[in-house]
Formats: sequence, structure tokens, C-alpha cells
Amino acid sequence: MKRLYLQTYGCQMNQYDSERIVRLMGQAGYAPTDRAEDADLILLNTCSVREKAEQKVYSALGRWRELKEKKRELIIGVGGCVAQQEGEALLRRVPYLDLVFGTHNIHKLGQMVQQAETLGDRPVEIAFYRDPSYMEDPEARPAVQGAKAYVTIMQGCNKVCSFCIVPHVRGREISRPSERILREIENLAAEGVKEVMLLGQNVNSYGKTSPGGLTFPQLLHTINNISGLERIRFTTSHPQDLSAELIEAYATLEKLCEHLHLPVQSGSDTVLHRMRRGYTREEYMDRIRRLRDRCPEVALSTDIIVGFPGESEQEFERTLEILQEVEYDEIYSFSYSPRPHTLASKIYPDDVPEEVKKRRLEMVLRLQAEISRRKNKERIGRVEEILVDGAAKLGRGQMMGRTRTNRIVNFVGPEELSGRLVQVRIVAAAANSLVGELITGQ
Ligand code: SAH
Ligand code: F3S
Repeated sequence: MKRLYLQTYGCQMNQYDSERIVRLMGQAGYAPTDRAEDADLILLNTCSVREKAEQKVYSALGRWRELKEKKRELIIGVGGCVAQQEGEALLRRVPYLDLVFGTHNIHKLGQMVQQAETLGDRPVEIAFYRDPSYMEDPEARPAVQGAKAYVTIMQGCNKVCSFCIVPHVRGREISRPSERILREIENLAAEGVKEVMLLGQNVNSYGKTSPGGLTFPQLLHTINNISGLERIRFTTSHPQDLSAELIEAYATLEKLCEHLHLPVQSGSDTVLHRMRRGYTREEYMDRIRRLRDRCPEVALSTDIIVGFPGESEQEFERTLEILQEVEYDEIYSFSYSPRPHTLASKIYPDDVPEEVKKRRLEMVLRLQAEISRRKNKERIGRVEEILVDGAAKLGRGQMMGRTRTNRIVNFVGPEELSGRLVQVRIVAAAANSLVGELITGQ
């Protein structure tokens, strides 16, 4: 068997796509290796959401140049969002690159590799498709490792956030047929998967583009009835599409975990307007209040961008304020970087100095660390259900799992608990994790 070395950057969608790449290339005779030096085929699944992510791609490719010089038959390919963004230009920029496959073209990869190997071609496939069948494989997804699995339910985004490259590199919204998704999750549950994470750039607008399928809340209801499955999560949602039905699902579906990632980006109405987010701060807060009303224990996380063009000190203060007002359990914060094809990069100069962005990012992180620590401390003494992921990074007999609210809990316990649901009592808390004691006799 030949060997495949695959490196993945970016979001969970890319991780799901990479699992699919490993599976498809496995059928084509490639076994995975974790040493690039041993590989016959090196693939890079890339992210271009921020400038830094894109730069990583070129430094990784630089490292592999020497391998290609030593071993001429080695095939190197780039896929994912940078591939989609650059297309042919990547081949010109990286002369030893053999193939480029876009975000809709994973199903073509086997054939492209063969073309490069046998004919010495440098194929590029970056077409977008309107028919969702490109997301389906002829052979059913085989058993996965562990108790958690990702399932892509839709791709692309029809929103027009002015900073975001995703609609350009993932295409327009396109939903997988509901029955395909349900069959995939039923199979996973039958293989022992207890938790699914439904993926999409904008999961709560699932179904809007596929007439005849279920709506997102209906899909959740149906998944909730799959036996063997214990937990449902999804990401990412747009605040505009957080409908009353979806809020109701949090109140009624026992398998839907009490956690929602709802990117707010900024607390300032004027910045939100320049970002073309399509909601005001008050509208966002109103949704949060309704959700907390129906599901008081829900944990919230969000994305924040600092240093968006023209962001004044006052506008930035509004972001600090909303963090205090909502009290998120966790946030992901980023410094703005202009991205190709986006509206913001065309009409607004990137005028917030780097040192100001850096200081704002630090302020956001510091404030959130305080809030997270305080909220985590409130959990001390509670008994929580966790799904055990496996051994914790800390070693020393420590295991790690997540609560339904997505908090990380470390606890001392035997390795055999991996993949099981257990009860722990929370005994200590830090900003990013909790310490638990296993409740025995379960
Ligand atoms: N709905 C999407 C969001 C994709 S981008 C999803 O599937 O997750 C993830 C986050 O990256 C965004 O929420 C935003 O906070 C950040 N981001 C996107 N474009 C950015 C840019 N140009 N500069 C800085 N951060 C950006
Ligand atoms: Fe990007 Fe906005 Fe869509 S952040 S993925 S354009 S909802």
C-alpha cells in the first residue's frame, strides 16, 4: 500500500472533509502515515478565513519542497479554502505542486491523484456544484473511532458579512438531503457513537435551499429520536436565523446539549452595520434573553473581531460591555485582517494600527478569562454528566471529558471509561477547565 500524509488546518468542516479524504484515499490504496518523509502522497487541507491561516499554507509547502526534490514520484496536493481561493495561481506560485482541489471537489481527488501519477498532469478542480450529491459517497461511511462524530449537514453561506471570505470559498448555501443525514447518523449510532456534531457554515439556515427536506428544527426533532444516540450539538449559527422553533427545541429535546455558539462579532451597532451582520445589538440580546428564558442552563460561546476598519475606542468599549452583559462561557476572539474578494477589503481601509488591535485583543481576553473563571467557579459542588473523550493531556492517570454545556472536565479515572457517559462532582475550576471527582457505583 502507498502512504498518505494529510495535514489539516481550520474549522471542524475541514476536519470532517479530511476524514472523508482519508476514507476515499484508503479505498484508492493509500494508508495514512503521520510522517511526511514516508509519504507517497502529501495533502494539505487549508483554511483562508484569516491572513495568518493562509500564510501557514505557504510555510508548510516550503518545508516539503526538499522532500519532492529527493523523491520525484512524490505527489503534493492542496485542497480546501486556499485552494478554492487561488486555483491555478497556486500552481504558478508553487512550481512543485501537483494538484489543487476546491471545497466541492473531494469526490474527484482519487482520479486527480491518478492523473498526476500516471500522466504527470497538474489537475485543478475548483468548480462549485448546485446539486448536493457531491457531498455523498457511493460507499456508506464505515465505523468511526470513539463516541463522537462530525456530520456535515450543509455547506456554504448566503450571508454577506463584509469581512468574511467563506461565501467565496465555500459557495452558496447548499443542504444535504435530510434522509441522507438521518441514515448517516443512524449508522453512526448503531456503531456506538453517542454524540454528533452537526456541521455547516450556517447550520440554522439548513433546509432553506433544499425544498422537500426538513427544516433545521424538524431535523433536530428527528435526530432526537435515533436510539443509542445521547447528545446532539451543532455549529455555527447566525443570530438572524435563531428562530422561535429553534429556541423551543432547546426547551424540549432532551438530547440537544445545552450549549449554543452564537457569533456576535461586535457589541457596537455602528460596527455591526459596517460588518453587514444584519442585526442590532438589541436584537441579538433579545434572542439571547428568549433562549435563556426557555432554557436557563444553556451555555453560550461567541466569536469576536477586534480592530474592524474604523473601530473607535467607544465602539470597542461596546464590545467589552456586551461580553459583560451576556457573560459567555467561552469566546474566540480575532484581530481583523482584510481578505480577498470581501466587501470590507474593497471599501474600508484597514486603518486600526496593529498595536491597537493587539491591545484590544488582550483586553477582550483578560475580561473573558475573569468571566469564565467566575462562571466555572459557580459550578463547584454540582454533579454533571460528562462524555469521556480519553486520557487528559496532563497525564498522571487523568481523564478528560465534556459536560453537556461543553465545559472540559479533568478527573482521575480508569482508561476504560473512554467513550462512556459518567457522573462527576465538580471540585475545582480554572478559566478553561474544571476538575471533577468520579461518582462511583454507576
Ligand atoms: N459561520 C462561520 C463563520 C466562519 S469564520 C462558521 O462556520 O464558523 C469564523 C470566525 O472567524 C468568524 O465568526 C469571525 O469572528 C472570524 N473572522 C472571519 N473573517 C475574519 C477576518 N477577515 N478577520 C478576522 N476574523 C475573521
Ligand atoms: Fe461568514 Fe457571515 Fe457567513 S461570518 S460564514 S458570511 S454568516
